[in-house]
Amino acid sequence: MAIARNEMTAKPKQAPELIKSGRATMSPSYNPRPLVLERGQGVRVYDIDGRSYLDFLAGIAVNLLGYGHPSLTEALRSRIETGLLHTSNGFFTAPQVQLQCALVENSFADRVFLANSGAEANEAAIKLARRYQRTVANTPRFEIITFENSFHGRTIGALSATGQPKYHEGFEPLVPGFLYARFNDLAHVESLIGEHTAAIMLEPVQGEAGVFAADQAFMSGLRDLCDKHGILLILDEIQCGMGRTGRLFAHEQYGVEPDIMTLAKGLGGGVPIGAMLARDSVFAGFVPGSHATTFGGNPVAATAALTVLGEVTAPGFCERVKALGDMLRSGCEEIAAAHEVVTEVRGLGLMLGIAVDGGPSVAGAVADECRARGLLVNAAGGRAVRLVPPLVITEADIEEALSILGAAFAAVTGGGQDS
Ligand SMILES: Cc1ncc(COP(=O)(O)O)c(C=O)c1O
Repeated sequence: MAIARNEMTAKPKQAPELIKSGRATMSPSYNPRPLVLERGQGVRVYDIDGRSYLDFLAGIAVNLLGYGHPSLTEALRSRIETGLLHTSNGFFTAPQVQLQCALVENSFADRVFLANSGAEANEAAIKLARRYQRTVANTPRFEIITFENSFHGRTIGALSATGQPKYHEGFEPLVPGFLYARFNDLAHVESLIGEHTAAIMLEPVQGEAGVFAADQAFMSGLRDLCDKHGILLILDEIQCGMGRTGRLFAHEQYGVEPDIMTLAKGLGGGVPIGAMLARDSVFAGFVPGSHATTFGGNPVAATAALTVLGEVTAPGFCERVKALGDMLRSGCEEIAAAHEVVTEVRGLGLMLGIAVDGGPSVAGAVADECRARGLLVNAAGGRAVRLVPPLVITEADIEEALSILGAAFAAVTGGGQDS
C-alpha cells in the first residue's frame, strides 16, 4: 500500500498512536517497551512527552559516549558536510584508513575487516577461520567450538555459532560444523577437540546470557589448547570490548591474546559499525574477492568509530570506567544483601548483572519497575538485571541508579525499603 505523502508530513503523532502504528507495522520478531524516545543528552534519554530516563541500557551496550557528546556530534557534522556519505570499498577514504590504523595501533592485530554489525563481524571471523585452516595451514579443519549460552548474532552463521537452542527453533538446518562446550569448563572443551577443529570462539564476558565472565584459568587454558592443537582463538568482544570492562579490550584483563577479535556495538557510539581484527598471518586466508560488504568502512560510520576510539583511549578513560564499575558493583552488592531474591552480582567494569532467583518474571518486573521510576535497564538471559550504562556516567548518576534499583527491587519482591 502506498504511503500518503501527508501521512509523513502530518503534525507529530502522539505516543499512543505511534506505539499502535509501530506495533502494527514492525516485524513481529520484536516486542518494544511502550515508550517513544525522541532525544538524548548526556546519559539521559527523553520520551516524546518530555519525560526523562537515566539510561543504564545505552541502546544495549552501544552508546558509550552517551548522547549529544560534543566531539562525536562535531565529527559527524563535519563528515556529513563533506557530502561524501558513502564510497564502497572500491576506494579509500581518510576516516576508514585512520580507523583501521587506530584499531591496529591499539590492538594485537595487523589488519581490520570493517563490517556493519556484530553478526556480520562474526560471519567474517567464521569465514576467515575456515579459509585460514584450508588455504594457509593446509588442514581439513572447519569445526568451530562455541559455548552454551553464548550469543553471536542472528544471521544464519552467527546463529549457528550461538549456543542457545531457543534461538535456533524453526530455523534448522543450521550451518554445520558448530559444537557447543560448557562455559568455564576446560575439560569439556578439550573433549570436543578433534582433527576437524578449526577454532574456538567465545565472548570473554557473556552478555546476553546474563553477564558471565570467563575465569582466568579457563581463558589461559583455552589459549594453551589452541596453541597446542593449531586452533584459532576467536574472541567476540562485540559487547564487552571498547573500554566496557575497564580495559580497552576485555582480553587484556586476562593477559590472553586472541587470533581473531570481533567488535561492534560500542565501536560506533550509536552509528552502526562492526569490525573483525587479526594478524597478517591469519588474514593470509583472505585474498581479493574472498569476502566483502558494500557498506563496510563507510566514512560516516568510520568517523564515528574513530572518534569513540579516540575518547576511550584517552589517558585515564578506562581507569575511570574501572573505578565507576567498582562503585556500581559495591552498590549492587548492597542491594543483593538487602534482597534475598538476588543470588549474585556478576561481571566486569561497567558490564554488570544482578542475578535473581525466581524465574524470568522477576528480572523483567524489576526492569519494568525501574523504567516506571525513570531508569532504563533490561533483563538479560531472563535471570539477571543487566547494567551496561554509557561509559561517561558520573558518580551521581550511579547513586541515582542505585537508589532507583533498590526501590524497584523492594517494590517487586516486597522486601527492604520501598523509597
Ligand atoms: C557478544 C555479541 N556478539 C554478537 C552480537 C550481535 O550483534 P548485532 O546485533 O550487531 O548483529 C551481540 C548482540 O547482542 C553480542 O552481544
